[in-house]
Amino acid sequence: MCVSAIAFLGLGCSDFEVMRVVAHLGDGHAQYRLAHMYADGSGVAKDDEAAARWLERAAEGDVAQAQYELGTQIVLGIGVPADPEAGTRWLLRAAGNGLHAARTDLGLAYLRGKSVPLDESEGVRHLRLAADAGEPKAQNTLAVFLLDRPRETENAARVGFDRRAAVDWLQESARSGFPAAQYNLGLLYAQGRGVQADPAQARAWYQRAAAQGHVAAGRELERVPDAERGAPRPGSAVPEPAAREVASGRALYEDYDCAGCHETAARPGMPVRPLVKLAERFSAAQLAGFLAAPPAPMPALPLSDAERERLAEYLLETYP
Ligand code: HEC
Repeated sequence: MCVSAIAFLGLGCSDFEVMRVVAHLGDGHAQYRLAHMYADGSGVAKDDEAAARWLERAAEGDVAQAQYELGTQIVLGIGVPADPEAGTRWLLRAAGNGLHAARTDLGLAYLRGKSVPLDESEGVRHLRLAADAGEPKAQNTLAVFLLDRPRETENAARVGFDRRAAVDWLQESARSGFPAAQYNLGLLYAQGRGVQADPAQARAWYQRAAAQGHVAAGRELERVPDAERGAPRPGSAVPEPAAREVASGRALYEDYDCAGCHETAARPGMPVRPLVKLAERFSAAQLAGFLAAPPAPMPALPLSDAERERLAEYLLETYP
């Protein structure tokens, strides 16, 4: 009945029925939407198996967003056995179809040697392509990577170190509204790293990041003195050992894209579980233990004991 009703713009059929018919006719975008209807239980009973089947069909039909989501699920082993090589192939196809978010994830994976063999040149190549195309997360990631490298290392020469370009990318990303870049740019201005030290600029960028819910930026705001109140507090730009632990925990959080499931800037199709009041419920050791064997659907990530401890420190500091 609905098949003929489609001819009359789907009159009398639910969104789900329309989508199902169009999907069966082979329309990739309808297949992708149908996958999400099954995954969310919207207009139909929730059915993870059907969702997975339709997502795969959409991916095979060259819908870039479907390729990206499928690839991510296969790399991380969400709902399917983890298969980094197969997942990475889907991410490459999505990137080839112009999805810069997929290329950004690929770049990050090569840079850290996660799910693919470590290859910094390849990581920088992907990130640079996405950054040049204006992808804010790639601009931020690449800038932080380049700025963290001492100029003289052989590695830096190999990947083409360029401090000026790094600062430009960070600025572009921050201006486009990406909170992590606003925070990182604030840090540069506070520390006079890559730019002239400028507490007023640091404050302004922390403020913009904090207004978007960036917790660490809110903290830094309390550390940076008001420009009119005079000189920076001595030593405030030198991170203490604990702060360094936290910074490397933050890098792990970014590497594994924890935000993809735990923050509002999540990738589409994945549930958002905000991290709140962790310190009230976990000690550092308990949190490290949780990360060693998280309950499904959170994936167990290949972290060392030391990495789990650093991540736990960061989480407790950031989501107390
Ligand atoms: C694929 C999505 C996904 C990813 C990626 C993910 N998580 Fe989770 N995480 C979840 C879900 C879902 C839960 C809730 C599990 C439950 O208790 O049922 C959870 C729970 C947690 C909790 C416990 C929260 C609480 O209030 O009890 C912590 C802490 C946590 N995740 C940290 C992380 C960190 C750190 C990363 C990155 C290394 C990460 N997660 C990556 C989905 C994810």
